Amino acid sequence: MTTRSPEEILEHLLSKRDELQGDAEKVIKEIEVFKGNDVRKRSLIKEELHKIKPQVVVELGSYIGYTAIVIAVELHEMQSRAKVHSFDTKREYCEAAKAVVELAGLQDRVIIHEGSPDELVEAWQKSHIVERVNFILLNHNEGNYLLDLRALESLGLINPGTTVIADDCHGDYIKYVDAPPIWRKKYNEREKTIEYRFTGKWGITYSNTTRKMDGEGYPEQMVISKCTNVLC
Ligand SMILES: C[S@@+](CC[C@H](N)C(=O)[O-])C[C@H]1O[C@@H](n2cnc3c(N)ncnc32)[C@H](O)[C@@H]1O
Repeated sequence: MTTRSPEEILEHLLSKRDELQGDAEKVIKEIEVFKGNDVRKRSLIKEELHKIKPQVVVELGSYIGYTAIVIAVELHEMQSRAKVHSFDTKREYCEAAKAVVELAGLQDRVIIHEGSPDELVEAWQKSHIVERVNFILLNHNEGNYLLDLRALESLGLINPGTTVIADDCHGDYIKYVDAPPIWRKKYNEREKTIEYRFTGKWGITYSNTTRKMDGEGYPEQMVISKCTNVLC
């Protein structure tokens, strides 16, 4: 995959605006060619979406909005009315992602948020969005995956049936989702830091699958976790 900044990608896409406007499939393909995305990841995401009835999708890591658009197109194909809420911590990336989503004509389906889900959760609880989240893609910064999964657990976004896909995932995250509840109880207590208010829900159990993406260079893998139960 070529490293391209969101500004570069947006500039490239806008240079083809007449051709791309309102055609999400073309936008996806154009990004894939320009950036050299691994299309196997797109297939895996689509496959997992088809296994559940998506109600609300949450993504951490918008960047240019590529995966959010991939998901939105698939939801449309599945005749699902689910929305995609994609979060990114960088304002300029959010702006670029919004512009790409608009180019794809998916602004009613994909909502780009600057920040993290906890800032919205009170409003989401009132409008019952929280319990309807059942598909989550972690596509941001691997070093934050475990902390953020525990936050999503604490915020009530992970319920029986919820699928969480962690892109390019290794290490502690896998140990955590694979561990028995008693191990996670101790882990969450030990890792309770003053600045970190979301310690996780140890009673959540997951069924996990790892899909390796062997290729050149760094071996990538995606971890798919399905919440099987919430014991407490
Ligand atoms: C690999 S890129 C995401 C690619 C994107 N899904 C796409 O298809 O274009 C990772 C993104 O995660 C964002 N990020 C990093 N830490 C984050 C966090 N804690 N929460 C949300 N986004 C974060 C970065 O700013 C960056 O835009």
